[in-house]
Amino acid sequence: KEKGRLVVLSNRVGPLSDSGKAGGLAVGLGDALRRRGGIWFGWSGKTSEQGTFSAFDRETEGDVELVRVDMTEQENTDFYGGYANTTLWPLMHYRLDLAGFERRFEAAYRHINQRMAARLSTLLEEDDVVWVHDYHYLLVGHELRETGFKGPIGFFLHIPFPPPEIFAALPNANSIVRGMVDYDVIGFQTERDCRNFCRYITDELGGEQVDEARVRLGDRTIIAKAYPIGIDAEGFEKLARSADALALRKKLYTMLEGRHQVVGVDRLDYSKGIPERLRAFDELLQTYPENRGKVTLLQIAPLSRAELESYRDLRRELEELAGHINGAFGTLEWTPIRIMTRGFTRRALAGICRASRVGLVTPLRDGMNLVAKEYVAAQDPENPGVLVLSRFAGAARELQAGALMVNPHDPGDVAGALQTAVTMPLAERQRRFETMREPVFRTTAQSWCADFLAELYAFRAGDRSGA
Ligand code: G6P
Repeated sequence: KEKGRLVVLSNRVGPLSDSGKAGGLAVGLGDALRRRGGIWFGWSGKTSEQGTFSAFDRETEGDVELVRVDMTEQENTDFYGGYANTTLWPLMHYRLDLAGFERRFEAAYRHINQRMAARLSTLLEEDDVVWVHDYHYLLVGHELRETGFKGPIGFFLHIPFPPPEIFAALPNANSIVRGMVDYDVIGFQTERDCRNFCRYITDELGGEQVDEARVRLGDRTIIAKAYPIGIDAEGFEKLARSADALALRKKLYTMLEGRHQVVGVDRLDYSKGIPERLRAFDELLQTYPENRGKVTLLQIAPLSRAELESYRDLRRELEELAGHINGAFGTLEWTPIRIMTRGFTRRALAGICRASRVGLVTPLRDGMNLVAKEYVAAQDPENPGVLVLSRFAGAARELQAGALMVNPHDPGDVAGALQTAVTMPLAERQRRFETMREPVFRTTAQSWCADFLAELYAFRAGDRSGA
């Protein structure tokens, strides 16, 4: 075992085992935690009267402990529904039009970051290395320092960091970024996100870019770098080849009766560009009528954050749009668009991806988008499908050479790419697939964790002089 336990904080915790259920992040973190021993701390998903003062809910597996606390109703509303998902989420996805700024959200955010740091600090040992995840906890590093913790603290932002011109709209933007500089290592999905953050420090706060990987603000010099996240590629490929997935694929093929299936898989979120995608599909049927009766769009869109109005509005819009397009084009034998808001197992998703001739991934803005990578990993190399990918997904950087790249705001562009995809000859599909397979299997959830942690562990007390 390496010296120094790993202590992870993220809003949602686990699951550790069962690769059938765990996403890439959980698989990657699970491996890293098992290797070093440690704790994964976060919210229980429950509300109670004690809130963050509630007893720890502990689950042990070998040297790894999953520890969770509750929130009160009010904390949950103002922190999770409020600052995290009404203020930061839209802002970070370049959607100032949807962002709400309320003082009580900001207060709840500070309160929860402080409370989570306080609870976490009671679990920490001297040699521990702390890794905080995502926009819910931008200030936990700062608050942990206030408790006196001296070990390395890293942070990874899973979503985009917008240009300073947008981030500056946040009323307390300066103090958030100043607080973030208490982390030792900050990881971003892409170089662009990292540059945006560093630009905020230099242009808005008068800091300085020291070298490619280091930025200075006041007396703090920290590492800010891109660590593009990946999936458990082998695990997902295996799922796609499993007997269950193959049986599902066979069933789908029978149902499709020779039609091509285009698949989209996204949480029902306005950053994913789902209405735009439906309009593009409508355009495909208008502009290339030979696809009528021959191509089906299956949109899997599990409900998300449904307590927020912007999400409920989106659901309504989608259902209306799909109803409209189906009404206009549908026949007795063929329904153009099928939307499902229930969740599927990862195994089923793998089978559905493998059975789909096109993976349609068209977010308006996305940190990485792991569905794009999962679609690639699930393909049959003998007869692979085509990925149509938004240039505004973080995954564009690694997949652009093999995917059909589109501007998701332009329905004509997306419709054209769909037409190219459904008519693409096998040899070109195979060539494009091989081009995408390489990065998907190289930069995995596991390698992402290992790379980030290598940097963070180099900060351990004692090693610091050498760093
Ligand atoms: C994004 C965020 C995650 C979040 C997930 C699901 O991927 O980066 O931090 O957990 O969405 O959203 P939810 O609000 O249901 O946790």
